[in-house]
Amino acid sequence: MKTAIITGATSGMGRLMALTIEKNIPNIQEFWLLGRRTDRLEALKDELHTPCRIFTADLQDIHFLNDYEKALDENRPEIVFLVNAAGYGKIGKVKSIGLADQLGMIDLNIRALTGICKLSIPYMSEHSRIINFASGAAFLPQPAFAVYAAGKSYVLSFSRSLNEELHETGCYVTAVCPGPVRTEFFDIAETTGNIPVYKYLFMADPEKVCRLALRDSILKSEISVYGITMKALMIITKLVPIKAILLGMRLANFSGKNNIK
Ligand SMILES: NC(=O)c1ccc[n+]([C@@H]2O[C@H](COP(=O)([O-])OP(=O)(O)OC[C@H]3O[C@@H](n4cnc5c(N)ncnc54)[C@H](OP(=O)(O)O)[C@@H]3O)[C@@H](O)[C@H]2O)c1
Repeated sequence: MKTAIITGATSGMGRLMALTIEKNIPNIQEFWLLGRRTDRLEALKDELHTPCRIFTADLQDIHFLNDYEKALDENRPEIVFLVNAAGYGKIGKVKSIGLADQLGMIDLNIRALTGICKLSIPYMSEHSRIINFASGAAFLPQPAFAVYAAGKSYVLSFSRSLNEELHETGCYVTAVCPGPVRTEFFDIAETTGNIPVYKYLFMADPEKVCRLALRDSILKSEISVYGITMKALMIITKLVPIKAILLGMRLANFSGKNNIK
């Protein structure tokens, strides 16, 4: 059965990717929706017209990947789209943020994403797509968002390598790298500190980010970057030494020094 698997389907861009895929890719026969909040998954199931399987799961749980492998083995889906959107970030300096929060980011943003890709590949059909949510934070180190930014650099690098590895199979991987997007992400991120005010000026519309992500994925782009600001940032980080950018951020207090615990 032609299947789209979406993590982080309970809110924000995961939820919107499910709706965008259904609207634009008519041959999907089933969605697998993953997240911890069952009521939200049920609500999305009601919104979609395609049959859905709901997996209430904490992707940080050490048993999750075994359960996922078992579900694949039992159902043997033909995966046409795999969207890894589950993720969170916590703002604050390494010395201030609790260990569980820091390692949790690694478990979810890196470990679960890697495991889900690895286990899903044998079920990916020809012309299938993997869409991994990285971030503009992948382009440079971010003091007071250090673990999150480093994790998203991993997602970008991993996705690019995987895209090359899968080249001959007809499966393509796209890393989505938006700047700040208007979702519930910041409700969680700001429990430990406030984002710099300038980021609010550049908040993108999640629907537009998701539409572009799907378009770029269909066009086999290895990276999807929404908006002129993020495209400019990507180029700047290739041209200007990172040390100079970090110094500039410090001088301009762009790391939100006064707001960061
Ligand atoms: N918003 C931004 O500014 C922004 C910018 C760049 C990149 N991104 C990335 O884009 C992706 C989507 O973020 P978003 O903006 O849509 O944020 P969001 O609205 O907060 O959605 C995050 C999703 O991750 C799921 N999730 C969190 N912890 C989980 C866990 N332990 N197990 C299973 N699922 C979990 C949440 O579901 P439950 O809570 O129900 O489990 C939720 O569905 C993330 O990878 C994020 O890092 C976001």
